[in-house]
Amino acid sequence: MALYSEKVMDHFRNPRNVGVIEDANGIGEVGNAKCGDIMKMYLKIEDDIIKDVKFETFGCGSAIASSSMATELIKGKPVADAMKLTNQAVAEALDGLPDYKMHCSVLAEEAIKSALDDYHKRTGE
Ligand code: FES
Repeated sequence: MALYSEKVMDHFRNPRNVGVIEDANGIGEVGNAKCGDIMKMYLKIEDDIIKDVKFETFGCGSAIASSSMATELIKGKPVADAMKLTNQAVAEALDGLPDYKMHCSVLAEEAIKSALDDYHKRTGE
């Protein structure tokens, strides 16, 4: 059996929403001290909707695939839905990750939560 699903390989090879949003109003950066991977998320939120989301990930293939899938899952969604995104949902959408790679999906959840925190701080909510 292949170690990684086709979806993981697809999002690793062709990551969606890579880059920077210059006028982002929510930015979050997180890292995992053990593996040294770093993930940065940019959100552009208007009228409580995630209008745009981009990421930069310095990390492993699963971290890149997780960031890519996470951005796809929250793009166009209300902020309240993005707040509920879990790493399990990211991993499931990727048709699974090996157990020892689950922390890569946790990083994606944390990066989005951190960007949403930043947005809430900026807007004083
Ligand atoms: Fe740490 Fe993938 S090995 S995020």
